[in-house]
Amino acid sequence: MSELDKFKRYTVTSALPYANGPLHIGHLAGAYIPADIFVRHLRLKKKDVVYVCGSDEHGAAITIKAKKEGITPQEIIDKYHKQIKESFGQFGIAFDIYHRTSSPIHHDLSQEFFLNLYEKGEFIEKESEQYYDEEYDQFLADRYIIGTCPNCGNEGAYGDQCEKCGSSLNPTDLINPKSTLSGKAPVLRLTKHWYLPLDKYQPWLEEWLLEGKKNKWKTNVYGQCSSWLKAGLQPRSMTRDLDWGIDVPLEEAKGKKLYVWLDAPIGYISATKQWAKDHGKDWQKYWKQQENEEDNSCLIHFIGKDNIVFHCITFPSILHAHGEYILPENVPANEFLNLEGDKLSTSRNHAVWLHEYLEEFPGKQDELRYVLTSILPETSDSEFTWRDYQARINNELVAIFGNFVNRVMILMHKYYEGKVQASPRFTDPDLHEQVGKAYKAISESIETYKFRQALSELIDVARTGNKFLTEKEPWKTFKTDPEATREVLQNCLHIIAHLGILAQPFLPSASKKIFYMLNFSQDVVSYDEEIKFEDGHQLNQAELLFEKVEDAVIEKQLEKLLNKAQGLVTAAVEVSPAKENINYDQFSAMDIRVGTILAAEKVTKTKKLLKLTIDTGIDTRTVVSGIAEYFEPDSIVGQQVSILVNLEPREIKGIVSQGMILMSENSDGKLIFVTPAESAANGSVIR
Ligand code: MF3
Ligand code: ZN
Repeated sequence: MSELDKFKRYTVTSALPYANGPLHIGHLAGAYIPADIFVRHLRLKKKDVVYVCGSDEHGAAITIKAKKEGITPQEIIDKYHKQIKESFGQFGIAFDIYHRTSSPIHHDLSQEFFLNLYEKGEFIEKESEQYYDEEYDQFLADRYIIGTCPNCGNEGAYGDQCEKCGSSLNPTDLINPKSTLSGKAPVLRLTKHWYLPLDKYQPWLEEWLLEGKKNKWKTNVYGQCSSWLKAGLQPRSMTRDLDWGIDVPLEEAKGKKLYVWLDAPIGYISATKQWAKDHGKDWQKYWKQQENEEDNSCLIHFIGKDNIVFHCITFPSILHAHGEYILPENVPANEFLNLEGDKLSTSRNHAVWLHEYLEEFPGKQDELRYVLTSILPETSDSEFTWRDYQARINNELVAIFGNFVNRVMILMHKYYEGKVQASPRFTDPDLHEQVGKAYKAISESIETYKFRQALSELIDVARTGNKFLTEKEPWKTFKTDPEATREVLQNCLHIIAHLGILAQPFLPSASKKIFYMLNFSQDVVSYDEEIKFEDGHQLNQAELLFEKVEDAVIEKQLEKLLNKAQGLVTAAVEVSPAKENINYDQFSAMDIRVGTILAAEKVTKTKKLLKLTIDTGIDTRTVVSGIAEYFEPDSIVGQQVSILVNLEPREIKGIVSQGMILMSENSDGKLIFVTPAESAANGSVIR
């Protein structure tokens, strides 16, 4: 009996991914594969489980992406919700529902939560000064303000964070703040917001979490929580001046939206509500405190480490303040996954994208599940490399697991035409004992969130089988003692059946293949099912469970990553021949500097021209540039460029252009900026 067994019901969640981009292996390793294994395991124990997820469709993450792609937030979420949902479906994550936070049921429930806390007088109402863009007539979300970092001098720091030195910032910390919308300096304006008094909940959190979860939660999670609590909690604003999100349901808050981290976790509940509605269930059983405490559902949140504070401090405080809800039993957050020695990065396109994997490796879902499970960043950051992917598949899945199953199946067909004689159980007591132990060990590992260990215990079962086979040498004994040989192989069939059962949470497709080869009538077999072969039971033909990964496959993936990193695309660009030599003086006569685009607008009545306002470090000047066909003016504000500053001024369409922006071309012939490899100081000389 594990700690978890006492619960009657389980509510399992995986972090709602932002619908602003495709999924990659980092997402899978953080919050989805572990939860999927956990849920499949509970189902095999015939537990009552609901596993919910959905797209997180609000917040600046969405509006910023929309601006970048030059389309509306609605178009962004529709595009990525569809893509993410499809990828999860094809990959086989076993959600009971994949919902979305733009749905009416979610908007209603979020507003209900807000009003519940509001009416109880939980919120602190506070007026404060926040940055406002007068030209665009709106308050600026932290991410819409850039300026100089007070800590390291990086001129491209955001209102909430400097990505160069990593320090977390408030917009008012920035030196020379600029709005990324208009490029102008924002002004401070008074605005009212509703704050969740986390400081008031601190004593309660200390008791519930620090005392209650010690030694139960993973140390990486518990440690982060305890340092937040030690530092002392501050009230946190639950509303925002934004034009995308859920309306604050108050007359006096017209135009304001709920903070995305208020509504997103409520998305778990609204998803459950929708699922319950679709399946004739009672959602409240999965979320609300029951009359009898023993009837409460067990709530588990699977997330990545960047979400710890929201799931361990903010959301529980909200649930607690509301009063009717259960609190998480555990939040087994994972650390980060790196790729080939470097952080995964969407902006640098340094990632293995799930939709691309599914397309390039059809039918190889289990292989990726296997590799990612073996390297889950459970206690510290870990690393995916393609060579390791190849090695684990070839040396473990193929050589140990697949090979054992295949050898036994082939011999059964070769010697006995695939016919089994009555075999109600293991006849080898050692095997019986070892397999019994494996059930216990795997179950315990899964229920203590040690998925890597659970997987290695699974492979050990296949190792046991291989060892047994090697020792008994049925290929040698068949001629002299066909009866004893049959017994050996039929014992092996029992191992295969148990392997199939135990592998279900980890390798669901391989398990189905095994059950098919064994000619079982079900394709899902729960843990307590009795394994017995009736006399004359006919096995199906052997098929390979896994294929070896060839070097060429890996090399292709490595090359693809390299090309992405360098922005190289394989299509050919026409390369013009080198020009005549110049001398050094001619070169050094050119004064090329790093600058930043502060504002961009179309030159009226032209198709190609943009009027750019550039901070050159020396001055702020105007440059007319023929790039309008390639860039939305709004999308390039804040962009660093290389600018030739001592080119003679020239009048173009009545505008004096002072200088020239250096451009290059990608393989599609699209103009691209020539920029410093990392954020550089404006005015620094390019030489
Ligand atoms: N969208 C968030 C992220 O990707 C996670 C939201 S989890 C939830 O970091 F709790 F808010 F749902
Ligand atoms: Zn900095």
